[in-house]
Amino acid sequence: MSSAPSVAIVGSFNQDLTWRCAEFPAPGETIVGAFTSGPGGKGANQAVAAARAGATTAFVGALGDDAFGHEARRFLAAEGIAVHAAPKKLPTGNAAILVNDHGQNQIVVALGANAAITPRDVTASLLRGARVVVCQHETTLGINAHAFRLARRSGVTTVLNPAPMRGDFDSAILQHTDVLIPNETEFVALAHQLKLTGKTALTEKKLAALSPAALHRLCRAFGVPTVIVTLGKRGCFVSQPSTHTIIPAYTGIKVVDTTGAGDAFCGGFAAGLVKFNGDTLAAARFGNAVAALSVTKRGTAPAMPTARELARFLKRLR
Ligand code: ATP
Ligand code: RIB
Repeated sequence: MSSAPSVAIVGSFNQDLTWRCAEFPAPGETIVGAFTSGPGGKGANQAVAAARAGATTAFVGALGDDAFGHEARRFLAAEGIAVHAAPKKLPTGNAAILVNDHGQNQIVVALGANAAITPRDVTASLLRGARVVVCQHETTLGINAHAFRLARRSGVTTVLNPAPMRGDFDSAILQHTDVLIPNETEFVALAHQLKLTGKTALTEKKLAALSPAALHRLCRAFGVPTVIVTLGKRGCFVSQPSTHTIIPAYTGIKVVDTTGAGDAFCGGFAAGLVKFNGDTLAAARFGNAVAALSVTKRGTAPAMPTARELARFLKRLR
């Protein structure tokens, strides 16, 4: 077996501190909820999703020298993930997550060590040999551009999940991006930032009402070979240079907590690209399956489906 991972995730680890409550508190209000804590962060969630879905996976990031950071190393390694996390003199990233009884969430992330990652922490040798590298927006945007430049030099497929969308987004990274995976909120924000919407303001409501052909035209304006818009319970929309496809979400599942669904999709998609030898549509279908199973459990990284759960789920559907 080659020592290089097939999927390299360059991204964040956050300790997720989650409070469940019936309704979100109003400003100034105090309410009683139930607390849990566990490993999360978009990078780590995607790495766990990819590894559990069967891809040899590396996590490249940064952690603090604190209890959360030490536990993160142990957790990721126990998942069979190669951990390349630079130690930083900052607290490990963390996230305050509120989940209400309607399944909605609100999240505040303190990037901490994640934002201290430097190009020296992301070397060519860590990415060389991988099939896919995935970045998100919870480290620094400069490190994503650096990672993608290195990846492209080694012929590695680059996947950008622009989550959360940031005001300092630099569209230059799109030239180095093979697959762009925004959710609807991120898609709208990106379209505005790149001034792709003309004079009309695009909203999520308007986006949902677009015909597939109109959405495809908008996706093409990003200048990225493949754009996949995740559509929550509606599945995902895949726009490729000369074709577009809607892949419906899996139905008949009991939705418990959708936090991290986008991460499950991205990690599953990356693993799918390896499993299906670069077949984008097969990988997106696989991403939908990984994400569907992830929403049936509470939490983020620990909620990612195991290979056995996935196999059983996909077999039942045949
Ligand atoms: P989050 O911010 O909650 O992590 P997201 O907004 O980034 O998620 P979504 O577009 O909501 O991402 O969902 C990602 C994927 O998860 C979808 O493309 C779909 O495959 C799956 N998914 C989400 N919600 C459901 C659901 N209710 N039923 C089945 N699959 C779902
Ligand atoms: O996408 C879910 C993730 O967003 C959580 O794990 C939290 O850490 C925030 O980064």
